[in-house]
Amino acid sequence: MAKRLKAAIALAVATSLVRCSPPQGSGEARDGISAADRWYSVEQVQAGSEVFEIQCAQCHGAEAQGVTADWRQRLGDGSFPPPPLNGSAHAWHHPLTVLLQVINQGGAPLGGQMPAFADRLSEKEKWAAIAYFQSFWNDEIYGNWEQMDGTD
Ligand code: HEC
Repeated sequence: MAKRLKAAIALAVATSLVRCSPPQGSGEARDGISAADRWYSVEQVQAGSEVFEIQCAQCHGAEAQGVTADWRQRLGDGSFPPPPLNGSAHAWHHPLTVLLQVINQGGAPLGGQMPAFADRLSEKEKWAAIAYFQSFWNDEIYGNWEQMDGTD
């Protein structure tokens, strides 16, 4: 089961990278936001903003800025609050494979609160959601993430 899941994730990543590279982005997604040197396109960011608004924003904030004062501070039940995904917290330490895995499995493997989206979103919608929150990462954060093999 775990093996099959891993294989499925690897396949999803491989097909997505084939589809998405070389970076095809050009133009502006929002003011001052460009997808020019990124793995995703402006269209993915736009599609992702809808997915994010409906599925993610209530916990992670409309612009992935987070909704709690301190995302490192455990809640009463010992779990962590939803962190910002806009580059200010920890998400940029994870390569795409791991980001996708979190979205698929949610927080359950860590005893966390995030719901699993494996069967609730299409692969396209999951990648779009990642593109959307990554569009808030500035070039420095994105560059660091790439250097840490983020696109693996
Ligand atoms: C009900 C609240 C909730 C919703 C809805 C939700 N999340 Fe989360 N998310 C969390 C919490 C809480 C965590 C921290 C891990 C945990 O405890 O589950 C988290 C963690 C993450 C992480 C890992 C961040 C890191 O720094 O390691 C990513 C990526 C993420 N969420 C993406 C998403 C996306 C994309 C969506 C929408 C498709 C979404 N989340 C919807 C609550 C939520």
